[in-house]
Amino acid sequence: MTEQLKAYIAKNELTYCIETYGCQMNTHESEKIAGVLEALGYCPVAQKAEADFIIFNTCCVRQHAEARLYGNVGALKDHKDHVNGALIAVSGCVMQQKDAAKKLMKRFPFVDIAFGTNGIHRLESMLYDALIEKKRVICVDEDETIVEDVPIRREGARSAFVNIIYGCNNFCTYCIVPYVRGRERSRHPDDIIREIEELCKKGISEITLLGQNVNSYGNDLSADITFVNLLKRIDSQTDIKRLRFMTSHPKDMSDGLIECYGSLKSLCEHIHLPVQSGSNRVLQLMNRRYTREHYLSLIKHLKARVPDLAVTTDIIVGFPGETEQDFEDTISLVKEVGYDAAYTFAYSKRTGTKAADMENQNDKQTMSERLTRLNVLVKESMRDRNRAYLGHTVEVLADSPGKRGRSEISGRTRTAKTVSFEGTLEDVGQYVTVKIDKVMAHTLRGVRV
Ligand code: SAH
Ligand code: SF4
Ligand code: F3S
Repeated sequence: MTEQLKAYIAKNELTYCIETYGCQMNTHESEKIAGVLEALGYCPVAQKAEADFIIFNTCCVRQHAEARLYGNVGALKDHKDHVNGALIAVSGCVMQQKDAAKKLMKRFPFVDIAFGTNGIHRLESMLYDALIEKKRVICVDEDETIVEDVPIRREGARSAFVNIIYGCNNFCTYCIVPYVRGRERSRHPDDIIREIEELCKKGISEITLLGQNVNSYGNDLSADITFVNLLKRIDSQTDIKRLRFMTSHPKDMSDGLIECYGSLKSLCEHIHLPVQSGSNRVLQLMNRRYTREHYLSLIKHLKARVPDLAVTTDIIVGFPGETEQDFEDTISLVKEVGYDAAYTFAYSKRTGTKAADMENQNDKQTMSERLTRLNVLVKESMRDRNRAYLGHTVEVLADSPGKRGRSEISGRTRTAKTVSFEGTLEDVGQYVTVKIDKVMAHTLRGVRV
């Protein structure tokens, strides 16, 4: 089957293009989809309009992401007239929702393949059915077995994502993720270490460990397998220079994890710790299982270990029942923490979640006013935090040409700040020392020293 498929792809010089929505998990899964396709002989193209195979890797965490997807799929109605024999697939979280794949295939007869987050390793057989047998294929089963050794085509030459845990058991009342991603499954630490060692050999020196709640890592394995032990192993056994993770949940952030800061040399001075709300009443309604006071004490302890730690967060405004006073509590928490960045969202009602059935849903206007107020504050906070870098020297892992043309290069500090400086394409992939001479809310600028 593989050989026949490969021969067909080579003979027709087939190309692919993936459009990815959603979080890092999805970005990484697109790297796996690309890995499988390139192992079969497909070549990437940047423009959907030219591709023989278009894949939409989807997100459903908020309503508008899903709505946008249907618009974009609909717009491809005539694609097959332009590119003879083209295939179209829709994958990812939207497809894991009940009956979504069936409905999609019915609504868009030109879609050939629908597959969920557990289906990537079956892509080859799906393609065989679609390309050779000319069938339409749906693969959204609930088999949550972890499959190792799926080929991955990584975007970065120096930085990489590594999954450590799949799924989520937390059921925050607003969130659809546990329904589409299933229960928590941890990868075996030996598999993770092996993957990281191989990445190091290929020149990767920065990794981000991925999971909906990395703190739960190992809960489904044996007692000595914990997130803290995994971090320690990666730090001591591999050559990784910069270690990050996303996302940790404040409710089970342990003292052991806090102690890793400032003691594990590779662990970067940055934490993404989603707070969602500053109101204890709302946090309880959200089923977050921590209080504002607990969250603030975590930040205090972390900053006691690493004074210049960068802290970023996620915040939802307009959760059902959120009052003006609750929102003020969020504002005051944001002021107190002094975030380096915050991803802010208006609450989006997701059918099937508990919050969707709660009373006192806020109206759109209230949500958008609160979001605007919050965003103004977050921007001020970002600028304030960035000001502290003025005149300081930082280590930047250069990752791409900057926005201002060929002579500008951009990269990240250990604290996840974007820094741009005058350089050449040869700097990309290098660690460059830069002295900061200008700061804005979203980026720092400087000169190489
Ligand atoms: N597992 C991660 C986040 C996954 S979703 C965590 O727990 O932090 C990323 C972010 O989307 C969440 O942190 C939350 O802020 C936001 N989000 C999730 N569901 C949402 C909804 N229904 N409406 C608005 N924002 C939502
Ligand atoms: Fe969603 Fe909460 Fe799980 Fe994050 S921890 S994925 S917000 S349910
Ligand atoms: Fe979206 Fe799925 Fe991530 S719903 S946020 S792509 S886990």
